[in-house]
Amino acid sequence: MTGMITEQTGFAHLSDLPCWQLRFGDACAVISSYGAQVLSYQPKPEQEVLWLSPLSSWHQQQAIRGGIPICWPWFGPADANILPDAATQPGHGLVRNRLWQLHHKAELESATQLTLKVTLDTLPHIASPVTLYLQLTLSNTLTIELRCDAPIAQQAALHSYFAIAPLMASTVGSETIQQIQIQGLSQSYMDKVSGQPTQQANDHAHIDSETDRVYRQPAAEMKLIGDKHSLTLNQAGQDHAVLWNPWQQKSQAMPDMPDDGYQHFICLETARLHWQPMPLLLKQQIRL
Ligand code: BG6
Repeated sequence: MTGMITEQTGFAHLSDLPCWQLRFGDACAVISSYGAQVLSYQPKPEQEVLWLSPLSSWHQQQAIRGGIPICWPWFGPADANILPDAATQPGHGLVRNRLWQLHHKAELESATQLTLKVTLDTLPHIASPVTLYLQLTLSNTLTIELRCDAPIAQQAALHSYFAIAPLMASTVGSETIQQIQIQGLSQSYMDKVSGQPTQQANDHAHIDSETDRVYRQPAAEMKLIGDKHSLTLNQAGQDHAVLWNPWQQKSQAMPDMPDDGYQHFICLETARLHWQPMPLLLKQQIRL
């Protein structure tokens, strides 16, 4: 089997967005040059694993809502103890709204592979150019590798929005998401909704209200288990995992999300949050 890579303009309603399409056998993935954001992964035709908000936009420097955004070189709000001018810096870092360049592509017998890169001339805390690479490998799984060889203080996350629809036999509604079991988290997390560090007896979770949790030292394999399919997420380079769903009120308050948007996805994110100066290699492999 050989793969194929084509350049395309537009994906879904984002009709002028520069993108790359990767094919390998029946599988297909689409990545945007803007943000190096994977927007679609279909292991089989019509089987969409990722959720993309129909109200997302990439104009006026906006980050695209959905797919797999890249958070770098910090996660969440900028930390004032580490970054100068933290209050004026955007959440989730600086690369979600940059145009990335093609670095390498390969149509192999074993996989289809594309690498995009972005160079930032300076960072708030580093006064020399730094390059970040995102490699996408499509075979019978989709593998995303985020790499920065510079030994600098950096946080990163692969902020995946997984669609509920392919996991469940029933039509998506507010009760469907509550039936999904998330496995492979850890027993200890920071609950960003209550502001409390929290312990639990096992490494599982369900979502039935606003959820924003940062789990310490998750397993190398996490799962989203539905009644029709399970999604397996293998990860490397992480020290945390993030579980996020805004639920009803916050969905309604977000201009780039439909009011019922929260019913359609679970964000399960691979994150490196420690600030020690060292190179970065963060990996997520997704299999349905
Ligand atoms: C999650 C964070 O990773 O991303 C949440 O834990 C945040 O706190 C969410 O609200 C969405 O962030 P953004 O910047 O894409 O709206």
